[in-house]
Amino acid sequence: MSQPVSYPRVAALKTAPQFLARLAELKVTLPFDERLESGEAAPLAQPTEAGGLHPRNRFCILPMEGWDGTPDGRPSDLTRRRWGAFGKSGAALIWGGEAFAVRHDGRANPNQLALGPTSEGDLTGLRTHLVDTHAAAHGRTDGLVVGLQLTHSGRYARPNPGGGWEPITAYAHPLLDRRFPAGVTVRTFTDAELDALIGDFVRAAVTAQRAGFDFVDVKHCHGYLGHELLSAWDRPGPYGGERGRTTFLRRIVEGIRRDAKGLAIGVRVSAFDATPFRKDARGVGVPEAEMRGYAHAFGNLPDPAAAPDLEPARAFLRELERLDIRWVSVSAGSPYYNPHIQRPALFPPSDGYLPPEDPLVGCARQINAVAALKRDFPHLRLVGTSYTYLQEWLPHVGQAVVRGGGADLVGLGRMVLAYPELPADVLAGKPLRRAVVCRTFSDCTSGPRNGLVSGCFPLDPFYKAHPDAARLKAIKEGTPA
Ligand SMILES: Cc1cc2nc3c(=O)[nH]c(=O)nc-3n(C[C@H](O)[C@H](O)[C@H](O)COP(=O)(O)O)c2cc1C
Ligand code: SF4
Repeated sequence: MSQPVSYPRVAALKTAPQFLARLAELKVTLPFDERLESGEAAPLAQPTEAGGLHPRNRFCILPMEGWDGTPDGRPSDLTRRRWGAFGKSGAALIWGGEAFAVRHDGRANPNQLALGPTSEGDLTGLRTHLVDTHAAAHGRTDGLVVGLQLTHSGRYARPNPGGGWEPITAYAHPLLDRRFPAGVTVRTFTDAELDALIGDFVRAAVTAQRAGFDFVDVKHCHGYLGHELLSAWDRPGPYGGERGRTTFLRRIVEGIRRDAKGLAIGVRVSAFDATPFRKDARGVGVPEAEMRGYAHAFGNLPDPAAAPDLEPARAFLRELERLDIRWVSVSAGSPYYNPHIQRPALFPPSDGYLPPEDPLVGCARQINAVAALKRDFPHLRLVGTSYTYLQEWLPHVGQAVVRGGGADLVGLGRMVLAYPELPADVLAGKPLRRAVVCRTFSDCTSGPRNGLVSGCFPLDPFYKAHPDAARLKAIKEGTPA
């Protein structure tokens, strides 16, 4: 796609004053430390603690699936390689590794990891590989905390070979239901089905505990089932309405506390959302409905220049505090219907749209939302998201955010696919290796959207040489084999 709207590249903002001037031009504010600290006293090197988990530094690897498991939901060599890279990164908190489907019909793609008869051994192997790689690179494993993200993909389920959509939603949605191709049946979970699904989440948590994981994340983000239930205000019955929207979470937590005693629980939540976006005639993203007053967002963004409504997130975090859940990974939006909100990028994925705003605006929106929540919930441990697009300036913003208490940990997604050693380099006071800084080309999203594996095809030599790199190039050029 060509770029009708051009934004200055972050790589071209070579000095701190240039970067800050660009933020000022965009009228966005971000915490920023010009001087990076290293050594034991550095803000990003400080340990933190809550609910029995003690990560020894302030970097967190966010969950990222690779669409590279086996058809029966087991990890492959590619999966193990990615988990090894997460271990090598030096980040002390591994938030989930990747989304793990609690049962077959909840897989987001036919290659997603899923609960099955061999899961305990498979997950033990993945976790051990990550821990061993961490030990080999950093000489220690104390203060390394590893969780598993548990999911049902709900509306975005594509469990079977061929990857056709098999959506099971939380409620009928006037805009999203009609996005599926003709012939796809969109059905809604019955109460009895949700009752049964709770048991699958609990069984997956028990398996994770047996496999040695320190915590599980009961996923509530990105448009998948848990997140969609949070906006089920109109759903009748026990799983909808103001109080019922969190029944699903409460019952899962109850089951985990009963059957997996001692296992810590975290939640990754999209703390705000917006209308679905679609391409306009130029290929640029535009809202599909009036943003102000949009009724189906959990925490609506009423206007691109306004702050999102964080009141629903505050109520949710209060509920988490009541449930004695202390760890929250804060994300936003969905990669399916508003990807520029969820993962700001200069280059859209193949099924996306050109960014309707400078991606720096999207980074600031998420980072500032986490800071606002942290002010109100000082006892929760909050992991922030959306730092990758900051590129060279990621450590400067991350350090300032943590130093100022705007988040407890800096969460890293795409950056570690391109540059796994970034946390270790920052903690050691080394300059960044600019050649492997993620430039948000989105190939790691475009690959899987086209049935290929996910990886950093542009920058990681391993994926550059992978057969799917040529396939993806052909797809992007419109000449698939
Ligand atoms: C290839 C890929 C796979 C992802 N898979 C997951 C996932 O399994 N679970 C999840 O919560 N988020 C997932 N995400 C979202 C990331 O965790 C993160 O929120 C997003 O990339 C924004 O962070 P970043 O700007 O550091 O990349 C994925 C992102 C990418 C690029
Ligand atoms: S493919 Fe590589 S450079 Fe592109 S967004 Fe993903 S990690 Fe970043």
